[in-house]
Order: sequence, then C-alpha cells, then structure tokens
Amino acid sequence: MLALLLFILLSRQGEVASSLDDGREFAYHGFAGANLTLDGLATILPGGLLALTNFTYQTKAHAFHPSPMHFLTKTTSVARSFSTSFVFAIVSGYDGLSDHGLAFVVAPTTDFSTANAGQYLGLLNATNGTASHPILAVELDTILTPEFRDINSNHVGIDVNSLVSRQARPAGYYDDAAGGGAFRNLSLNSREPMQLWVDYDGVSKQLNVTLAPVHVPKPKNPLLSEAVDLSTLMAADAMYAGFSASSGVVFTHHYVLGWSFGLDGPAPPLDLSRLPALPRLGPKPRSKVLDVVLPLATASLVAAALATTFFFVWRRRRFAEVREDWEDEFGPHRYAYKDLHRATDGFRERNLLGVGGFGRVYKGVLSPSNLEIAVKRVSHDSRQGVREFVAEVVSIGRLRHRNLVQLLGYCRRKDELLLVYDCMSNGSLEKHLHDPHMPAIFWPERYSIVKGVASGLLYLHEDWEKVVVHRDIKASNVLLDEQMNGHLGDFGLARLYDHGTDAQTTHVVGTMGYLAPELVRTGKATPLTDVFAFGVFLLEVACGRRPIERGEHDNRVVLVDWVLEHHRGGSILEAVDPRLMGKFDLEEAILVLKLGLLCTHPLPNARPGMRKVMQYLEGDQPTPDLPPTYVSYAMMALMQIEGFDSYVMSTSSSTSPTVASIGAVSCGSSATVLAEGR
Ligand SMILES: Nc1ncnc2c1ncn2[C@@H]1O[C@H](COP(=O)(O)OP(=O)(O)OP(=O)(O)O)[C@@H](O)[C@H]1O
Ligand SMILES: *[C@@H]1O[C@H](CO)[C@@H](O)[C@H](O)[C@H]1NC(C)=O
Ligand SMILES: *[C@@H]1O[C@H](CO)[C@@H](O)[C@H](O)[C@H]1NC(C)=O
Ligand SMILES: *[C@@H]1O[C@H](CO)[C@@H](O)[C@H](O)[C@H]1NC(C)=O
Ligand SMILES: *[C@@H]1O[C@H](CO)[C@@H](O)[C@H](O)[C@H]1NC(C)=O
Ligand SMILES: *[C@@H]1O[C@H](CO)[C@@H](O)[C@H](O)[C@H]1NC(C)=O
Ligand SMILES: *[C@@H]1O[C@H](CO)[C@@H](O)[C@H](O)[C@H]1NC(C)=O
Ligand SMILES: [Mg+2]
Repeated sequence: MLALLLFILLSRQGEVASSLDDGREFAYHGFAGANLTLDGLATILPGGLLALTNFTYQTKAHAFHPSPMHFLTKTTSVARSFSTSFVFAIVSGYDGLSDHGLAFVVAPTTDFSTANAGQYLGLLNATNGTASHPILAVELDTILTPEFRDINSNHVGIDVNSLVSRQARPAGYYDDAAGGGAFRNLSLNSREPMQLWVDYDGVSKQLNVTLAPVHVPKPKNPLLSEAVDLSTLMAADAMYAGFSASSGVVFTHHYVLGWSFGLDGPAPPLDLSRLPALPRLGPKPRSKVLDVVLPLATASLVAAALATTFFFVWRRRRFAEVREDWEDEFGPHRYAYKDLHRATDGFRERNLLGVGGFGRVYKGVLSPSNLEIAVKRVSHDSRQGVREFVAEVVSIGRLRHRNLVQLLGYCRRKDELLLVYDCMSNGSLEKHLHDPHMPAIFWPERYSIVKGVASGLLYLHEDWEKVVVHRDIKASNVLLDEQMNGHLGDFGLARLYDHGTDAQTTHVVGTMGYLAPELVRTGKATPLTDVFAFGVFLLEVACGRRPIERGEHDNRVVLVDWVLEHHRGGSILEAVDPRLMGKFDLEEAILVLKLGLLCTHPLPNARPGMRKVMQYLEGDQPTPDLPPTYVSYAMMALMQIEGFDSYVMSTSSSTSPTVASIGAVSCGSSATVLAEGR
C-alpha cells in the first residue's frame, strides 16, 4: 500500500524515472531532476525539457540513461526484446529547414568525444562512417547527405554500425483513423512534438519503428519494419540507451519531452499531459482568452474613442464661437464662451438678472479674479453691421466714467453676441421706482442718481473724443451699485439695430414714451433726442410714474402731458411722487420737474444741452423759468405731432421686445420698440 502510494507520488511528480523491475523499465515525463548522463550542449531546461542542441554552430550532444542495461540474455546471448518510445520536437529558426538530426542510440559507451557533429549526428567520425564499436541508432534526419545515401531531407532510418541506413523511409505514419491506414507525411522539423516508438522482438528478430504526431495514438502499422538479428550487434556487457543530436549551420533546437523504456516487454506508455511545454518561438499564439478579450477591448476602445470624439465635437459646438480676422485688434476685449459659460453656471435660470429688449442678462463670477459680471446675450440675425458694432462696443469699452456701467468685453457666437458688464448689485432703477414691493427711494438718493446719470450722459455727449449718442435712456437702463449710485448702461447698444444710414430702411430704436418727436419722424438719433429721453427720465424719477401710464378705461396718460397740465394749473408740486410722503427738497423737486419739461420740449432746439442741464442740477444756473407761453406752445407742438403721426398704427405691447410700426407718441407702453421710419 505504502509502496503504491510512493509510486503514485513519484510518477505524479513525473520528473524522476520510475525505475522498476531492476532497472529494466523506466519512464521520464520531462527530465527535471533526472540523473541523465549529458555531454555537449545537452541540458535540462528548468521546465524539465531536455534540450540537446541549441543554436550554436557545429555542435553535438548526448543524453543517456545513467545505468547501462544488458541487451543480451545472460545464458544464451540472444538479444532480448526491448521497446522504447519518446516524444521529441525539432524546432528551427527557419521554416522547413533544420540541422542534421536526432537519433535514438544504443551503444556500449557514453563517450562520443571522437564523433563528429553535422551529418555524423554525433555518433561516428569522418574516417569511414562505420563504427569501431557496436552501435544501433534510429535516426531522424532532416538533411540529405549523399555520402550516406540519404533518401531525402526528412526521413527516419535504422542504422546498424553505420550512418548508411539499413532501411529508411520518408517521415510519416499510417493513419488508423482513416480507413485502411492511409499514409500521412510528417515534417520532422515542423516544430510540433511527435512520438517515436522503437520495438524489437527478440524472437522474430524484427525491429519496428513507428512515428506519429503527439496527439495520435500509436499506429498499428510501423513506418519501418526491419528483420535484423541484434544478437551479433549487442555487446555482452551492458549497453547504454539514450539520444544523440548534432547541429551544423542552421539554427536548430532538438528537444526531448519524455521517454520511456522497457526490456523484455513494452515500454510504459507516456502520459502526454504530463510532458513539459515547448518554449515559445516567434509570436505567441493567441490564447482563447485573448480571442474573447481582444475584440471586446477593441470594441470598447473604439466606443470610448467615439464617445470622446462626440464629447469633444459636442463641446466644440456647445462652446463654439465666431471669430474673424478683423477681431484680432479687439483681442483683449474678447472673452471665451467657455469662461462665460462657467462663470454663469451654464447660464442657469437662477442666475438670470432680467430680460430686456435685447435679450437675457445673467449674473456671473469670473473664475480667477472673482469679479462679478453681468452677461447680456444679444441675439442678432444678420452679420450685417456686427463688425461696426463690435468696433463700437470695444471703443465704448474704453469709455470710463463713474456713472457709466463699465463694459468689460464681448464674445461672439453664431447669431449671438455676448456683452460682459460690471455687475450692479442693486439692479435697475426702474424696479426701485415702480415695483410696489420695493421700498421707495428717498429724495436725496433720487437727486444724486439724477445728477449721476446727467454727468454720465454729459460725458458721452461732450467729454469724450467723439459724440456718443446713448439712444435708449430710461429708468431700466439706469443701474444702481451697492451705494445706490446711478450708472447709465446699454449705451450704443441700440446701434446694433440701427446701423444703416439709409433713411428708407432705418429703424427707429428706443423705448415708447422716451422717444423724441423728431426721432419718430426722421429716425435720426442725436444728442438732443437723448436729452428728450433724459427729460422724461427726470419726470419719471420725480413723479414715480411711468412715461406712459394706463389710466381708467384704457386711457393712456403721457407723463409729459400730465406734468405740463399740472404746471399749467400751477400745481406742479402735486406731481411729485406720493411715495415720498412730502419728504423732499422743494427747490430741487421743482428744478427736476421744470428741467424735465424743458428737456422734453417738442422742438429739439428749445432743449438745453447736457452741459446746461448739469449746470442747472449743480445749482450753477438759476432754475429755468417756464413762461405760460411755453405750455401752450408745447401743447400746440404736441398736437401737431399727433396729427403728423396719424399714419402709424398704434401698438400695445408687453415688456418683451417688439418690432412694430410705431404708435402715436401718446400711446404704447414702456417697451422697447423697433419701428419702421419713413
Ligand atoms: N450690469 C448689470 N448689473 C446688474 N443687473 C443688470 C445689469 N445689466 C442688466 N441688468 C438687469 O437685467 C435687466 C435686463 O436688462 P436689459 O438691459 O437687457 O433690459 P432693459 O434695460 O429692461 O431694456 P433694454 O433692452 O432696452 O436695455 C435689467 O432690468 C437689470 O435688472
Ligand atoms: C547554447 O549552449 C551553450 C553551451 O551550453 C550556452 O553557452 C549557450 O548560452 C546556449 N545558447 C542558447 C541559445 O541556449
Ligand atoms: C547519477 O548516476 C550516476 C551513474 O549511475 C551515479 O554514479 C550518480 O551517483 C547518480 N547521481 C544521482 C544524484 O543519482
Ligand atoms: C573516429 O572514431 C574512432 C572510434 O569510433 C576512433 O578510434 C578514431 O580515432 C576516430 N578518428 C578521429 C579522426 O577522431
Ligand atoms: C571503410 O568502410 C569500408 C566498408 O564500408 C571498408 O571496406 C573500408 O576498409 C573502411 N576503411 C577504413 C579506413 O576503415
Ligand atoms: C508525401 O511526401 C512525398 C515525398 O516525400 C510526396 O511524394 C507525397 O506526395 C507526399 N504526400 C502528401 C500527401 O503530401
Ligand atoms: C512489427 O510490425 C509487424 C507488422 O506490422 C508486426 O507484425 C509485428 O508484430 C511488429 N513487431 C513488433 C515488435 O512490434
Ligand atoms: Mg438695459
């Protein structure tokens, strides 16, 4: 029982020969740890593979089972039956070409020092090719050597005392799987492992040699079957069994993977699953795992690449900008859309400051500087005029005044322009004046806002290198900073819609109630049309009423007319905002109201310039005196204008932008209006 266990253990290990029956039978499954007698280049590789030759020029190698065996019966001196099988592989660096060969040898010595390499297979030498001592070999020859009458360069031969084979056949086997055992060629140096069987029957004195691919069971018909009496060949002394191999000039490895031997009986069959693997030569054959993983990996890689591409295209689209050569000079004022997108949290709704006539305004914080900005998205349909506009916007960006909303820069996208301003934390004055939920602003603040706006407008009109007409002065374009200082915003923006100078197509731009009569008539904005709008703004601040208010029965009350009426009736102070509850500077209030009327004079030339207005507000000029004739003259002029404007249709409008025919000055709302002029 213990012995059996030991045997199983040993044979499982597969390395050491199982040496049973007095050394007459053994089997190597791989040669790791085996006590072989090696010479030449023969070596046992770490995996257990016996490598007889390597790529070295003209070498020979031998490997013998260490203990010699008696091939003759002791008493009768007749050759005993024996049988052996081994698995080998001839691996060369070239397809179909390898060095001389490998042989199974039985010889009385392991000393082959006088033998030659090359075609001598490490067995004999050049003196004759015949041996001085008995030698049996089965050669696996891959080179045709005419000297030894080789049949081809891929043959198996039985050699007795000579390299001239007694019998040789091209390598191959009779395939039992095919009916009738068809012969199949084999290529010895195919790099594939093959098994060779050598069987000698001492009774019939027949030597059989059988070859087959490693996975094919031993074919019934041997490749070679030679009648030979080995009794005369075998020495009386014990002889060695083993292998010999030689190399010449071709890169070749001769490997033996496993070997079994038996005297007086069959060699133990080799368990092919326990043989060592051949080393990899050339590209590694693709594994099953790779077959699955590789396409999957490739597919996911392609998918990832596609996704990335789509992402970048999407991102490009998303953050796409329009930039043209002529903009280079405005470079510093240009913002990247991506930065604005990031600053405003992707133009989130909760960052919306308001919606105006030109578009939506978002609050944002610029990344490195923490600068608070307001981004106005202005859509425009045509590229026409954009260039001039950008030029103007940028030049306007150079305007610096403490009562102007600073324009920081711009960004262009398709059909869209983004303007970046300083953010005014208290929003627009319009909200403070008219939103009942907002606390009323006290008079001193109103007066200082009015003065501030006047000074900003004066700067635009007169103090800068060229005259800038604001075109859209109104309460909603007056923005308040933290200290409630008034800043005039949106100057020049109306120009985007008012680039043409052709009177036929000129659009009137401005806001209902703030439009000077001559602006409606001619469509031409001048500093004096700004003064008119400023006058309306003065009245709006003082009275807390919109320029055009809806009264009972859809009656529209025009603020200017309404104040004029009060002035005529001598009750101008009754026009002051009731939310102030009487708490205001009397003189200042009268000044603002009268100045408002003066600035809204129907005739442009009757209006004061902004410098004059500034002088009034600063108290450098006495309050203007409005004679009663002013009233009647103004009323007359107003009527004249209404008659003149009878051609236009009136529109009522919401707070959204409208492009419409212009209504009579006295009707409409405070919405921005773009109108056809004639
Ligand atoms: N620089 C800014 N800082 C803070 N809030 C701003 C700024 N610019 C605009 N806003 C807010 O956005 C709102 C919309 O502004 P926008 O200028 O687009 O419209 P509007 O002034 O009402 O009309 P218009 O288009 O004629 O100028 C304003 O009412 C204001 O509350
Ligand atoms: C071949 O064998 C020689 C001698 O053992 C050794 O020095 C050499 O490294 C071997 N070459 C290869 C490629 O195995
Ligand atoms: C190997 O075999 C030789 C010859 O039989 C013997 O002298 C030697 O002791 C053996 N070595 C081992 C490690 O078995
Ligand atoms: C050839 O081999 C024989 C033994 O096989 C030996 O006696 C002889 O000296 C060898 N000749 C040469 C030249 O090595
Ligand atoms: C060589 O072998 C032949 C037989 O094949 C023999 O006749 C001859 O004498 C041998 N020559 C030598 C030098 O051994
Ligand atoms: C096998 O090889 C021989 C020559 O070695 C050749 O004549 C024959 O056609 C081959 N047969 C096949 C099936 O390849
Ligand atoms: C050798 O082969 C022949 C023919 O196939 C067979 O009859 C004989 O038994 C075989 N001898 C040995 C020892 O296998
Ligand atoms: Mg505005």
